[in-house]
Amino acid sequence: MTKTQVTWYATTLSVVIISVAAGIGGKGALKLLKLEVPQWADLRSSVTLNCQYDTGGDSLYSVKWYKDEHEFFRYTPGLNPKTLVFNLDGVNVDENKSSSTVVTLFPLTRKSSGNYKCEVSTDAPNFPTVVGDANMTVIALPEDGPRIEGLRQWYTVGDYLEANCTAKMTFPEAQVTWYINNLEVDSYLLERYALEVSDGPFYNSTLGLRFLLKKDWVDTNKYKMDVKCAAKVSGADAKMDETSVRLRAVTDHTLSQERHIYNTGAVFTNYWLVILTIFVLHCYGTQN
Ligand SMILES: *[C@@H]1O[C@H](CO)[C@@H](O)[C@H](O)[C@H]1NC(C)=O
Ligand SMILES: *[C@@H]1O[C@H](CO)[C@@H](O)[C@H](O)[C@H]1NC(C)=O
Ligand SMILES: *[C@@H]1O[C@H](CO)[C@@H](O)[C@H](O)[C@H]1NC(C)=O
Ligand SMILES: *[C@@H]1O[C@H](CO)[C@@H](O)[C@H](O)[C@H]1NC(C)=O
Repeated sequence: MTKTQVTWYATTLSVVIISVAAGIGGKGALKLLKLEVPQWADLRSSVTLNCQYDTGGDSLYSVKWYKDEHEFFRYTPGLNPKTLVFNLDGVNVDENKSSSTVVTLFPLTRKSSGNYKCEVSTDAPNFPTVVGDANMTVIALPEDGPRIEGLRQWYTVGDYLEANCTAKMTFPEAQVTWYINNLEVDSYLLERYALEVSDGPFYNSTLGLRFLLKKDWVDTNKYKMDVKCAAKVSGADAKMDETSVRLRAVTDHTLSQERHIYNTGAVFTNYWLVILTIFVLHCYGTQN
């Protein structure tokens, strides 16, 4: 038998025996009140697991923590030292922030994902025990973001509103969504860019926004527009970036037309004028 198997066997056995003993013991005062293990944990943060119990007046004997049935932390008030940490791949216990009810893990790795179990015993006859377990999945939330980029402060009717929202170095890929005035933006106004994959793997997801600003739009939106981008990774709460832009009401259809002529038209006008002049001169020349 390997060491792992022995540990697992011993644990399972003690849980069974003790549960039975607690049943027969009659006192049944030991209760697990709650076990808090986040369902999603960010790879770049620490995580605190919380096991709340009521010993029903008996003295606490031990609190043991297991990940996937392997013990990694033990708190025994009657022993010195009170805390004991067992090496386990992906489980880094911050001993200074771990005690009779909490265990803090930092840094996390992808291997920190798994099933976490808290097992509490008192020193009442037959060491009654209660257990609770929960699953935790490690993800990587967007590093410094998501970020809205490329947006100007002012837009005028006829302008293209263009921006990107990027969620960087996430795991797995982030689902990026744009909202304008709290309504999800239709997909035909979006530009999809290829996912960037870095070692890890980590993903950079970019979703662009691109649409022509129309006059009725500016009027109904009272010259201001709230723009928001959300990046969601797995089932964790989405991370947001938001801003607002001003819209200029151009009564002035003419202004933009003038600008258009000035920018592009002028060149053509001059060009045709030159051709025409040459033509006229030519005709004049041949007639004489
Ligand atoms: C824990 O505390 C000890 C002594 O107070 C200190 O030397 C050590 O650096 C601390 N460890 C961490 C991970 O904070
Ligand atoms: C944890 O995940 C395992 C395997 O994915 C599943 O069988 C088990 O029911 C889950 N436990 C809890 C408490 O959700
Ligand atoms: C959005 O990102 C794409 C790809 O990185 C880039 O080509 C484009 O210029 C960006 N657009 C804006 C408005 O920043
Ligand atoms: C993803 O973004 C990060 C942070 O800006 C950058 O360092 C990395 O090179 C990007 N990955 C790829 C594949 O471009």
